Amino acid sequence: MNDNSNFQEWFKNFSPKLGLRETSFKKIIQFLDSQPAPITIVETGCLRKEDNFLDGQSTLIFDKYTLSRGNGSKVYTVDINPKSTEVCKKVVSKNVDVATDDSVRYLNNLAKIFIDKSIKVTMFFLDSYDVDWRHPYPSAAHHLKELTAIQKILDKNTLVVVDDAPAIGHLERSEENLSKDWKVMQSFSPTIGGKGFLVHEYACHVKAKVFFSHYQTAWIGFNQ
Ligand SMILES: C[S@@+](CC[C@H](N)C(=O)[O-])C[C@H]1O[C@@H](n2cnc3c(N)ncnc32)[C@H](O)[C@@H]1O
Repeated sequence: MNDNSNFQEWFKNFSPKLGLRETSFKKIIQFLDSQPAPITIVETGCLRKEDNFLDGQSTLIFDKYTLSRGNGSKVYTVDINPKSTEVCKKVVSKNVDVATDDSVRYLNNLAKIFIDKSIKVTMFFLDSYDVDWRHPYPSAAHHLKELTAIQKILDKNTLVVVDDAPAIGHLERSEENLSKDWKVMQSFSPTIGGKGFLVHEYACHVKAKVFFSHYQTAWIGFNQ
């Protein structure tokens, strides 16, 4: 049992502001609680605007969490936009390593450093390259490139979370009662959309498992 009651108290007040990300952030915290310290979190796409809950404030949550776990727990985050990293540095503690770089290049370099130093990553949180919901391919491809860059340091227990990656499906509307909810069509299985749709296709190929799927989706079991 981790004694991170200060964090839990802070998060209890903070989490209702997370809206559609509340459930998945709670599941992320439960997962991190189940993992041994040091907790190492690597994030792409940092907090770019203070108190902007449309984004999620992920870097702040991970900063508070890793500080509460101690024992060398740490956050690494990268963003291509210097304005984002400037804001982020003002909001988070010095325990967060904030880099200004392209995420794919950064992750590729970080993977080499982590292999040399035997640093095991507890969770990757991939949230760079904003998604265009009508044309998600460029964003989804970018997140697949990020996965490619970290592939060699994914452990069977590493959690990979992609933000803005809800399930999508083919739906039908009941003709009798148009006011009823949409129904998922039986003939097509729902899948993961948004930023995570190509990561999900890869996960299916290598039999990684969906750990949870809400507005954010998480997978575990890459490199089993
Ligand atoms: C959705 S925001 C991140 C929000 C943050 N995770 C939060 O919860 O507050 C996406 C960020 O990704 C950054 N970004 C876009 N393309 C990128 C790339 N190729 N490499 C790194 N960051 C990138 C943008 O500058 C932007 O700040």
